[in-house]
Amino acid sequence: MTDITWNDYAALPLEAKCQYLARPEGDGMPYHTLFAQQFDREILERLCALANRIRFINKSKEGALYLKSVLAHKRAMLYFSQPSSRTFLSHLAACQILGITTGSVRDAATSSEFKGESHEDSIRTFSSYFDMIIMRSPEKGLAEKMAWELSNSDRPIPILNAGSGKDQHPTQALLDIYTLMRSFEKNGGIDGKTVTFCGDLMRGRTVRSLSYLLTNFRNVRQVFVAPQELQVPADVVMVLAKKGVDFEVTDDLKAAVKTSDAVYMTRIQDEWDSAKGASAKIDNGRFKFGAEELALLKSDAIIMHPLPRRDEIATCCDNDPRAMYWRQMRNGMWIRAALIAATFGFEKTLMNCGY
Ligand code: NCD
Repeated sequence: MTDITWNDYAALPLEAKCQYLARPEGDGMPYHTLFAQQFDREILERLCALANRIRFINKSKEGALYLKSVLAHKRAMLYFSQPSSRTFLSHLAACQILGITTGSVRDAATSSEFKGESHEDSIRTFSSYFDMIIMRSPEKGLAEKMAWELSNSDRPIPILNAGSGKDQHPTQALLDIYTLMRSFEKNGGIDGKTVTFCGDLMRGRTVRSLSYLLTNFRNVRQVFVAPQELQVPADVVMVLAKKGVDFEVTDDLKAAVKTSDAVYMTRIQDEWDSAKGASAKIDNGRFKFGAEELALLKSDAIIMHPLPRRDEIATCCDNDPRAMYWRQMRNGMWIRAALIAATFGFEKTLMNCGY
């Protein structure tokens, strides 16, 4: 990112931007993690293998203490100017597993941004004290702009995008892929599976990022079930069409459930409503997963949700072995630990250590 101006960089298509975001060491791992397009199948498989490895090492006290020593010389800043429970806590726990010390701002009102400081100045301040910034923002593209600024500063440090407006949520998509890989481990992997997305596909950033990551696998069919007003946006459809992915846009959840290997439910993202209460006027009664849908679901299929949930998955599904959303949440901690370790260049060390 140092040999290109912001305007030239910003004008590039996402695929062309990726070369500027990888680790300069050339091991293929990301330096800045900004969007899902940075991850191809090989990198996804390496990250999932690393997450498995970290999970295994962490099982014994000796292993856990070793992990805590690996990045004990690093500090990370969690800069979250949008609400978060799981993404914040799982990144925090991932840092703790690797021995990284953390600082956090969770509310711009408690930082100097409240006094009128620009995002650029805030980020530069964080980079003076920390070695990585994990950030969530309501603004599409802010993490990317900050990554460029930092790369061109005298203290370049990596940025992990933990959610950028309605646009992308790449680390959530990584944990979703890790969950799918683990769930289908003994059942042929992700290739050939049907993944159904349901809910607010228009504004759900996790949907855009995961839909893209799934295009790295062979013959994965994607089904989008939503009320018309909240259907999957045109840019996602265009990517799928261009890549020749088999996909369907529908409003029939029951029919989709019957043929799905994974059903990915999402919440109505009403915080983005332009007029207060606009989402409440949308009839979303048919876009909820309850006892009837559970009865239609294949015995080896899974139910996913990035969480938080409202009523789009009935609590009667929670103890069904196919309800994967609780494990999905914990998988987030392991894959984020893997991503952070790989970002700092510790993939080989961990894969080859004696534990
Ligand atoms: C999601 C998000 O923030 O986009 N949550 C998460 O990170 N687990 C989904 C949501 O808020 O509905």
